[in-house]
Formats: sequence, C-alpha cells, structure tokens
Amino acid sequence: MTTIMRQHLIDPEICIRCNTCEETCPVDAISHDSRNYVVDAAKCKLCYNCISPCPTGAIDSWRNMPADKAYPLAEQLLWDNLPGQIALDAPAEVGAGDTATVLPDDVERIAAASTAGQGGTAPPPWSAAHPYVNLYGIHNPAVATVSGNFQLTTEDASSDIRHIVLDFSNASFPVLEGQTIGILAPGLDLNGKPHHVRLYSVASPRDGERPKYNNLSLTVKRVTEDHDGMPARGIGSNYLCDLKKGDKVNVVGPYGTSFLMPNHPGSNLLMICTGTGSAPMRAMTERRRRKFSAGETLGKQMLFFGARTPGELPYFGPLTKLPKEFIDMNLAFSRVPGEPKRYVQDLLRERGADVARLLKDDNTYVYLCGLKGMEKGVEEAFTALCQANGLDWSALRPQMLQQGRYHVETY
Ligand code: A2P
Repeated sequence: MTTIMRQHLIDPEICIRCNTCEETCPVDAISHDSRNYVVDAAKCKLCYNCISPCPTGAIDSWRNMPADKAYPLAEQLLWDNLPGQIALDAPAEVGAGDTATVLPDDVERIAAASTAGQGGTAPPPWSAAHPYVNLYGIHNPAVATVSGNFQLTTEDASSDIRHIVLDFSNASFPVLEGQTIGILAPGLDLNGKPHHVRLYSVASPRDGERPKYNNLSLTVKRVTEDHDGMPARGIGSNYLCDLKKGDKVNVVGPYGTSFLMPNHPGSNLLMICTGTGSAPMRAMTERRRRKFSAGETLGKQMLFFGARTPGELPYFGPLTKLPKEFIDMNLAFSRVPGEPKRYVQDLLRERGADVARLLKDDNTYVYLCGLKGMEKGVEEAFTALCQANGLDWSALRPQMLQQGRYHVETY
C-alpha cells in the first residue's frame, strides 16, 4: 500500500516573494531562487508556522500525493502555476494495487492552523467590513506618489521613525484598518535579483489619512542594525524613510483578512503594541476618533503602548491629546533615565481589574502588534490578571481566537 501524503506547496501565481515563509520556517524546508519559493517535502514537518504570516495565502496550497512521488524542488522551481490535484483513486496514478490514504491527522491540523495558528490567526470579527486583497501584484503594482514624509521621533531619539503618506491619485487601492501593503524597493539584491516585497501595516483609517483623499499612511522605522545589534541597512525601511515628496513608489496588495476591526456599536477595543506595532492601532483609533468627533457613541477603547522614551513613541503628541472619555491610554517607557524600566505587560498587570472587566465582555476585541518577545510577556500577564479576577485565560484565549476576538501580529 502506498501512503498518500498531503504535500505542502506554494502557489507561484499568487506568491509575492516577500520571504515571510522562508524566514518563518523553523526547519529550513522553504527556499527560493529568482523565480519561485518552494517547499522541500522531505524537510517540511507540517508545523504550519508559515501559514498564518503569509500575506497572500499562496503558502496555503496542498496536493495529495503518493509519498514516493512528491513533487521535487527542481520541478517546483519551474512552475508558473500549481499542477492540478491528481486523481488518487485512479490506479494508474497511484500504482497498481495501491490504496489511497489521506492522513486524517493532517487534515485536522490544517483546519486548526487556518483558524487558530501559532501566531493566533483568527477569523475576522463578525462585524468587520469585507477586505479587498491582492488587487496589485509584483507584475502590476499600483504607483503611488509620496505626499509627505514626517519624522515622528525626536532629534535626540535613538531611532528614526517616520510617518509616510502615499497618494494613489485615480488608482483604486481600498484598505481597511489592520491590513498591510507591500512595497517594491527599486534596485537589485546581492544576487542581482529584484528585492523581495517588504510589508508594512497601514496606519490610516479606511477613508484615508485625510478623509476623502485617496491616500494612506505608514509608520516606518529606519533599520540600521540587525537582530544582534550589528550595523545593517534595511532595504525597504531606508528606501521609504529617504523618500521625498513627489517620489513614485510601487505598491502591491493590499493584504490581510483577519486583523480587522469590528464595526458594530458597543464593541470594545483592547490594543497592545510596541514601537511601529502602533500602526494598525493608530488606524483603528483614528477611525473611531472620527466617529467620536461626529458624535457617535462608541464602545470602550483601552491602549497599552510601549516605547523606549516619550521621544521614541510614534504619535506621542496626538495620542496624549485624545480625550480620556474616548480612550484609556497606558504608556510604558523602558529607557527613561531615572525611571524604572516598564513594559506593556507590566501596565496590563497594574490595570488587571479593568482589563479583566473588558475581557469578560463578549464585545471585546484584543489586538496585539509589535515585538515578538512581547507576546510571551502579554500572555503571562493575561494569565495572571485573569486568575486574579475570576477568569481562566487558558480557556478564554481559544474561545476568543475562534470568535475572531484575539488578533496577534508580532515580528
Ligand atoms: P527595551 O528598552 O528593553 O528595548 P523598540 O524601540 O526596540 O522597537 O522597542 C519598543 C519597546 O518595546 C521598547 O520599550 C522595548 O524595551 C520594548 N520591549 C523590548 N522587549 C520587550 C518584551 N519582551 N516585551 C515587551 N516590551 C519589550
């Protein structure tokens, strides 16, 4: 009997070559050449870590194959599109006398990964607006014009974070709060190939950075060092941070169908972020601020935002001017001379009773965006504050994920 495997593949027609899957794969099963991203069936452990971060869904491609006939890398590298599903019940395809067996465990795990993956990919809130995705690809990018590039950090700050406004003129580029777009930096990489797509969260609401103008904004930190603190020049971030008013930018996307905000009256937002992870929170907050200014009654909003110093906290000025009855703001600074180091999870613990009150409400939607390390700290804080306030986070978390009420995007 031949064992039938569910072979993990990447759809070359949809893939934007952003490298996210290759960076995510813990066993180096994913690789690429100048043409395609491919999965090594011999190495892939079906952990599904790569599924939720993929912006286009190209990674979520599967074919049932006899285990000894899995598509080799050399063949995948030549594809322009995925081969069809082979008919496994046809003896000629499987081999005379063989029986097809789809591993039930795999099917179950794939279903689980697509609704509640490692990073906590959840369905969107039930009242989210329908997002447009994949309107522009690497072969037909939208061309935007830079209409502003403003430094958000102070001159003495250790990082350069910028608010960049892109104008789409007459091109249709609809986005929702929480979605991402891809930027194609010009030039070639060290191998003489075009740079892969860089993804950025949109920082403006759906009706534009300026309402009724066809524009959007991004929050971009100039990358000057790698994860080990060694000097390194981020291709996408330096390209964006150096843009001047009037420059043209190739944009692909939009992407994202999960990290979206609820639209129904009475829904509460609990937002937790660090650094440029504030971009989607700014988009959601600004969407709600415009409604608030127009006199609409809204649910509660609570924000936990971490940065090194006030001078490094993007949008510090505008945020601190928001009315208290509009948003419950909690800012954590980690490097203010003479003050103790504080992270967002410390403030979550301090405000435990109020956070738990929000978590008890079925209308509360939680958004977490920023440094990967924060995720663990926040989960621990949720566990502790739930325990202290009569909730069980280990039971609530999967429930909220399944209901589209817990959204995590960390990097
Ligand atoms: P730190 O001073 O320890 O780096 P960055 O400026 O690098 O984007 O970071 C934004 C904020 O997130 C900083 O205050 C940083 O503190 C903080 N931070 C770093 N690691 C964690 C973590 N594991 N959990 C929560 N916050 C963190």
